[in-house]
Amino acid sequence: SAVTPREIVLAAQAGGYAVGAFNMHNPETTQALIQAAQLAEAPVFLQIGRAIVPHLGLAEAYRMVRHELDRSGLQAPIHLDHGTYDEVFEAIRLGFDSIMFDGSHMPFEENVAATKHVVTVAHSFGIPVEAELGSIPDASDSIDWESHYTKVDEADRFVAETGVDFLAISAGVMHGVPDLEPKPLAIELIERIRDVTNVPLVLHGASGVPADELRQATAAGVHKFNADTDLRHAFRRGLEQVFAQGDRQLEEAMAEGRRQMIEATMEKMREFGAAGRARR
Ligand code: G3H
Ligand code: 13P
Ligand code: ZN
Ligand code: NA
Repeated sequence: SAVTPREIVLAAQAGGYAVGAFNMHNPETTQALIQAAQLAEAPVFLQIGRAIVPHLGLAEAYRMVRHELDRSGLQAPIHLDHGTYDEVFEAIRLGFDSIMFDGSHMPFEENVAATKHVVTVAHSFGIPVEAELGSIPDASDSIDWESHYTKVDEADRFVAETGVDFLAISAGVMHGVPDLEPKPLAIELIERIRDVTNVPLVLHGASGVPADELRQATAAGVHKFNADTDLRHAFRRGLEQVFAQGDRQLEEAMAEGRRQMIEATMEKMREFGAAGRARR
């Protein structure tokens, strides 16, 4: 694309906002993300993630997103979300614009070694790498946060030794939305990680996080937010509202899901400060 994924995130860092990175699940949700970016005039990362890969396959998901992007005229990176070691190389071969290698489950030294190798290969193809340090728990009302948080000294060493472009950190976020009030983000931890790493930070699990906390996280160094659950729920609400009226056409339901997901995505883009920031 004319504007590279690195340039998109560095522009967000320079401009004091965060880019939204959202997961697609089928053609209609892909279209919703693309249309929201066009309507909000926002930069966006289109993510292929954990749910779609076993369902459709990495290559098919990639071809679908590339097709929808090409016919939309939007310029946006196609990004692999939470890639395994094997998936990141397949994604590079397929033509992905940006990848996340998630070695967060590995012991620190193994994560460093694997990420470093991924970075060497990806960079030789001009592809930036996001990696994860610390771990992001699934939504629950009882989380042992200390066991998940990114450690500042490890972040320092990790970025210096691997050469990653963006670092996903754990600072009080969870994948999904908890039933009870979420714990506030560890803003001071984010600031300390920013000060030692000097790379744009990524916060996963942005669904369920209040807008004022997202703003504080951005001021502390986060310039890419991943969100999925809130948008998926918007799509599902559209389907449910149509089917609540009886045995309606799938197309009618999916069109309403898409409409509601566009609204929800534009709202996230405004909360992230990304609306009106597209450079195209
Ligand atoms: O395209 C890249 C290669 O498949 C990388 O394989 O994991 O042995 O470096 P590797
Ligand atoms: P949420 O579902 O909590 O928005 O998290 C999405 C995410 O982090 C995808 O990588
Ligand atoms: Zn995630
Ligand atoms: Na979340």
